[in-house]
Formats: sequence, structure tokens, C-alpha cells
Amino acid sequence: MSDRIDLAAFPHDFLWGTATAAYQIEGAVAEDGRAPSIWDTYSHTPGKVAGNDNGDVACDHYHRWREDIGLMRRLGTNAYRLSVAWPRVMPGGDGPVNPKGLAFYDELIDALLEADITPSVTLYHWDLPQALQDRGGWPERETALAFAEYSSVVAERLGDRVTQWATLNEPLCSAWIGHLEGRMAPGLTDLTAAVRASYHLLLGHGLAVDAIRAAAPSAQVGIVTNLSTVHAATDREEDVAAARRQDGHINRWWLDPVYGRGFPADMREVYGVELPEREGDLAKIAAPLDWHGLNYYMPSTVADDPSAPAPHVRSVRRLGVPRTGMDWEIDANGIEALLLRLTDEYPIRRLYVTENGSAYPDVVRPDGTVDDPERQDYLERHLAACASAVRKGAPLVGYFAWSLLDNFEWAYGYDKRFGLVHVDYETQKRTIKGTGHRYADIIRAHRGRSSQAA
Ligand code: IFM
Repeated sequence: MSDRIDLAAFPHDFLWGTATAAYQIEGAVAEDGRAPSIWDTYSHTPGKVAGNDNGDVACDHYHRWREDIGLMRRLGTNAYRLSVAWPRVMPGGDGPVNPKGLAFYDELIDALLEADITPSVTLYHWDLPQALQDRGGWPERETALAFAEYSSVVAERLGDRVTQWATLNEPLCSAWIGHLEGRMAPGLTDLTAAVRASYHLLLGHGLAVDAIRAAAPSAQVGIVTNLSTVHAATDREEDVAAARRQDGHINRWWLDPVYGRGFPADMREVYGVELPEREGDLAKIAAPLDWHGLNYYMPSTVADDPSAPAPHVRSVRRLGVPRTGMDWEIDANGIEALLLRLTDEYPIRRLYVTENGSAYPDVVRPDGTVDDPERQDYLERHLAACASAVRKGAPLVGYFAWSLLDNFEWAYGYDKRFGLVHVDYETQKRTIKGTGHRYADIIRAHRGRSSQAA
């Protein structure tokens, strides 16, 4: 099986990493001056999250981060993608800074560097300070300005050691799932709010790019989007048009403005919502980037559905295809196709796979091990597809497995496990799963090749 990954395709200084996000792992939600975020509010609203789970404790990473860096070392990874909790650093959303919040990340970054692990810092992974939501949240321009202010504070403090910066993680989820579908915080189902949120998220991104560079001149700045390949359920004209709309909704809406093409005209028409545009905004949104981060999990197959909310499509479940424990279709060709599409269609200099992984219902065996062959197969297939994309010209320079640890999987709670490392939430015991060991072997093999070649 290992032979199917063409490791020689990856550059010798390839970043082999794992990824996490603050609210999903940190816990300690009321400690050292952290204020609530929209996810604290949402998860504490009965019925919103499976099992009424919340991130109050999560993986207790806030206290166990030294042990977690130890796990990264055991995996042999040389990079780690983390997110900073805005409500820890700037509890009110803007204004006063919480020194203890910044100090936590300061110490974490030092320890990562000490362990020869390159930190890749994401500034927003969905945990908007509740104080800003109370003032209107992402549908309001003020939130974009506050995001730039917060980004500047973090970059100023960590920018002497951190070079890899991402502004937003998966703005699609914040805007469409959080404001249109209501399945994530803040839980709205309002198209106008969703479109305005999408606009201000991207404006916040552009403003943050400038703020980060001003505070940390050596910063390499990018954005992380979750993209999917899109297929029409049939070749009926209506379904082909639906697939085009779905592509606009989940892919082009988030790429075109960032790369200077403006918001797609066809989708503006589909949404029919006036954008809160001001002169100069589009140029800010299109601030040049150093890299792009692709999060890839699954493809999307859709049919036309005029009765559904914008973009008026219905997901179609393809039969006879393998699926993960999330019931997400497995299609490794999608990651290759998207890496090549980003390379061919957008002016992108460097690419990272910033997330990729799968959830399965793992069990700890009596001997204390966790055997997860399906996850391992998913990992290997996707790495093989990444190598193939590199051979075809994609400038891919790093891969971050989602996730280092099992963690709080948003509306699915703790039931869905994506980690390379199993977490027993009763005891907080960490156990490297079979896939974690396999990942370590792959990294070692790649390193061995690279040092032989040098
Ligand atoms: O857990 C999430 C992560 O926070 C964002 N990307 C997708 C992952 C799996 O659903």
C-alpha cells in the first residue's frame, strides 16, 4: 500500500504537519480572562450540538499542550497548524488586550520552535467573540475592522517567530453554514445576513493581510478555503446548471474575489442580495497572498431544486461509493483535481493542504491500541493523489492532517473522531492510532529519501 504514494514527488523541505483549532481542543473557556465566543453560546443552547456537548473542556489542550507537542514529535511532524482564540486575546472583540491570552500562545510557539516544529497560525477558526456578535457579528462591517485590529495585535506579538499566517479558516462555513443553514454558530437562517457575512469575512481577510504584514514584515500570509469538486447528478441541463451554481456557492465565491476577479456575477444574481460594497473594498479583498490553503474532505453531487434556498440545489447521495464515518463520500481524485484547478486558474504561488482527514468510530482494543485501517487507507489515497498533483505541476509544499487529536467536532460533538491520536475524554489519555504510526512511517520514509538525495 505504501508504494502507491510517490514520495519522491514531494520537495525535500516539504512540511508534514497536523492541524487543530482552538475551540475544538483548548477547553479552559473561562480561564485567564477568556470571554465567551459564539461557539460557547451556540453549544450551550440545548439541542444545537449532538449530545449537547460543548468545548468547555475539549482535549484540555490549554493545560496539556506540552504533552501534545510531545505527540507531534513522536509522529515526526515538522509543522503544526493551530488557531488563536480571538476571545482569549481580545475578549471584547476589539479594544483591550488580555495579556494572559497572548502569553499562552507565546509560550506554545516557543515550545514548538524548540521542538523543531514550524507553527502555522490561523487567526480565525470560527470563534468570534460573543461581544462582537452582540453588535451584529459578521453581517456588520465593524467586525471586519475589529478582525484587522486583533490580527495586528497577534502578529505583533508572535511575528518575530511565526512566519506562516492564515487569516480565515473556511469562511464558507462561517457564512453559509452559520448564517444561512443555521447548523453552526451563530445559527441563523437568513440569506441577507449570510451574504453580508461572506462579504465582511473576505473584507476582514484583506484588511488582516495588510495588518499582519505591517506588524510582521517577514510574514507569509494566506487564506484557507474548503473546496469540493462538484458533479451534476445527471446530464439534464437543469442539473448541469445546478452544479455550476453549487460550484459558485462553495468554490468561486471564495476564490474569485480573493484573486482579483470580484464576486462572481452569476452568484450575485442567484443570491439577489445587495453587497455592502464601498469603494476600494475589492482591491483590499484581493491583497496579494503568499500561499493558499486547501481543506479537502469530499466531493459534492447536486441536482436542481428550485424549492431549496439559494443556490437552489439538492445534494444527491451517490450509491455504491465508499464513505467515512461522517457519511462523506471518499474520492481522492478530488484533492488532485482541486490542487490542479487552484494552480491553473488562480495566481497562486504556493499551496498547502491545510486539512484533510476522516472520522471513523474508533475503539481502543484491550491491548490499548487503536487500529483504524479505513482512516489509514483514506490518508494514503489522498497523499498519493497529492503526489500526483505535484507531478502535474501543483506547487504543493506541505500537508496538514486533520487532526492531531480527536476533538470537538462542532455540531457533531465528540462523537466523530478525526484524530491521528485517540483521546479518552474521561481521562484525557492520548493514544496514537494506527494511522498516526503510519503517518510517522511515511514522513520518515520521505525524510530518508530526501537526505539520501542531498
Ligand atoms: O473539524 C473540522 C474543522 O474545524 C474544519 N474543517 C473540517 C473539519 C472536519 O469537519
